[in-house]
Amino acid sequence: MCGAARAEPVATAPFTVAIDGPAAAGKGTISRAVAGRFGFAHLDTGLLYRAVGAQVLSGVAAVEAARSLDPAALEDPALRTAEVAQAASKVAVIADVRAALLDFQRAFARRAGGAVLDGRDIGTVICPQAEVKLFVTASAEVRAGRRLAELQGRGTDTDFETVLADVRARDARDSDRAEAPLRPAETAFVLDTSEMSVEAAVEAAVAQVAAARA
Ligand code: DC
Repeated sequence: MCGAARAEPVATAPFTVAIDGPAAAGKGTISRAVAGRFGFAHLDTGLLYRAVGAQVLSGVAAVEAARSLDPAALEDPALRTAEVAQAASKVAVIADVRAALLDFQRAFARRAGGAVLDGRDIGTVICPQAEVKLFVTASAEVRAGRRLAELQGRGTDTDFETVLADVRARDARDSDRAEAPLRPAETAFVLDTSEMSVEAAVEAAVAQVAAARA
């Protein structure tokens, strides 16, 4: 060991970016880009509900699945199917499922070094004190078109009408439920990406975070 003084690594203070919005609005792309730009960790909270939904499809009770959720399960590409998305939206109406997932999300949000969480209730319920809150939205038709391209890119055989009906069904369930319904937080910056390029949407989100960091 040499005698030179060594600086202890300084833990960066927590900084939370909450990104909410309906299915296929571009939250994931924007969240990953913001996290990459600022060196923050990213949690796609929809994967938590998808992991619970997938367990339910294989016969496990929803609340039990949520209480015993293994974060490693979030990596499973099978969580990306339309069937699992619908199952996720159904388990997400159960108060005890949401309660079981709360601590994990809050701890992630306040980790040192900053975090971006995307979902439906991050700015309203999980992190009402988030330093930045964004609500990313787009028309149902635009979102269905984007989701169709994504599903077809993965080799799924589907069509626009099916995907649009799916998007609308999830919008209705996510918005009309009693527990943590989808809605913008009062102080959220609303970003309607219907007519925006991905690059423009990312830059608008980055600008909001940069302004809050300044
Ligand atoms: O973001 P996603 O499409 O992967 O989410 C799947 C479902 O999970 C969505 O339809 C509703 C639910 N969800 C939720 O209720 N709250 C969140 N924070 C994230 C997702």
